[in-house]
Amino acid sequence: MDSIHIYGGVCLQGDVRIQGSKNAALPILAATLLTKGTNVICNCPRIADVYRMLDLLSSLGCLVVWEKDGVRINADNAGLHEMPGDAIRGMRSSLCLLGALLGRTGQVSMEHPGGCVIGARPVDLHLKALECLGAVFREEEGLIVGNAGTGLRGTHVALARPSVGATENALLAAVAAEGETCLSGAALEPEIEALCEYLRDCGAWIEGIGTSTLRIRGGRRLLGTRYRIPSDRIVAGTYLLGCLGTGGSVLLKQAPVEHMGAVIDLAERLGAECQQGREGLFVQAPRDLKPCGRIITAVYPGFPTDLQSVALVVETAAAGKCLVEERIFENRFRILEPLSRMGARVRQMDAGRVEVEGITPLRGCQVEARELRGGAALVVAGLMAEGETVLRGCEFIERGYENICRDFRELGARIYGV
Ligand code: UD1
Repeated sequence: MDSIHIYGGVCLQGDVRIQGSKNAALPILAATLLTKGTNVICNCPRIADVYRMLDLLSSLGCLVVWEKDGVRINADNAGLHEMPGDAIRGMRSSLCLLGALLGRTGQVSMEHPGGCVIGARPVDLHLKALECLGAVFREEEGLIVGNAGTGLRGTHVALARPSVGATENALLAAVAAEGETCLSGAALEPEIEALCEYLRDCGAWIEGIGTSTLRIRGGRRLLGTRYRIPSDRIVAGTYLLGCLGTGGSVLLKQAPVEHMGAVIDLAERLGAECQQGREGLFVQAPRDLKPCGRIITAVYPGFPTDLQSVALVVETAAAGKCLVEERIFENRFRILEPLSRMGARVRQMDAGRVEVEGITPLRGCQVEARELRGGAALVVAGLMAEGETVLRGCEFIERGYENICRDFRELGARIYGV
């Protein structure tokens, strides 16, 4: 898709099914490297990042076949082979292969991963956790090269900060390590729970799932399994906020309501009615959005950084001033420039804080996505704006949304991709 065209000003109405979660799927796909036999990963989202991860797995020797409801993966013949550099650099989640490959082969060699340009995004916590488990790393011609010598050994791993990716890497290495690992300071994001559930279905012994201290008895034989990826809380949150920005009422089918507490809380503060039903989450936007004062991103169960830019866009339609504080990543306000051109009154106070002044009507114009979630936020801005918005840089959005145009069209929006 080259560009997205949006004719804004339509209230969203109707229902849409929420796709499987990107951030749950990627580490689980990497984890299949640790298993014998066949895995069927159901509800796996058909997004660019998943295709990249599957390319990486194929290059390592896995058998990968798409089926109607998911993807079948067999890693029996997988080993250390060269991986396509562009797939590694294209997404930060390729980092999960560090833990998975060390667990599988005792060795790893890969380029530095990429991902959205939202701050420094170092890898120190990943490497430290894996070093605790017995890996030794060196940098060789721009590659991260790791070796587990005589094998990974269970131990106490204390994360200095609850990094999602470092927790996943430590888990992957710990299920393969001999003996027991206690992983403290683990991230609480639901995607970690999904990874633990998948590994447990494969035969791993993990205790403390859903808490910040995980106990893992490693070295067990893991067998491929059938696992269903949970729905994507960030995609559901994007559509919920899109409904608030444009007015209207939507049913988000299969939305993972139990993991959307912070965004539902924001929606209610803005005056929306949210109701959980058998089919999913029903959202009714208020006639006028109420002022909400402040939005602060935090680790789960706090307000997700991945929805910060979408919330910031919606705040332009709420009366009064709102302070948006980004506390997870630096440099995550890249939409301010295009959004100002659309007419928003936004003022960056410092590296981590932006003041949004509402109510400011947005007007359509030509904008460009520079990262995944910011791109989705610009789509929402286009839906709220008067006139036509043309968005370029769609490849960023395709990293995480199966078909954002189709989904918003199902809710009545006038939007198409070319
Ligand atoms: C994951 C999500 C991403 C989400 C983020 C925070 C995936 C594929 N991505 O990213 O969508 O925005 O969680 O919820 O699941 N940090 C370090 N050193 C490290 C690792 C991280 O200092 O070695 C810092 C980061 O710079 C950042 C913070 O820790 O400031 C959080 O990062 P982390 O939780 O690791 O995010 P990701 O796993 O990259």
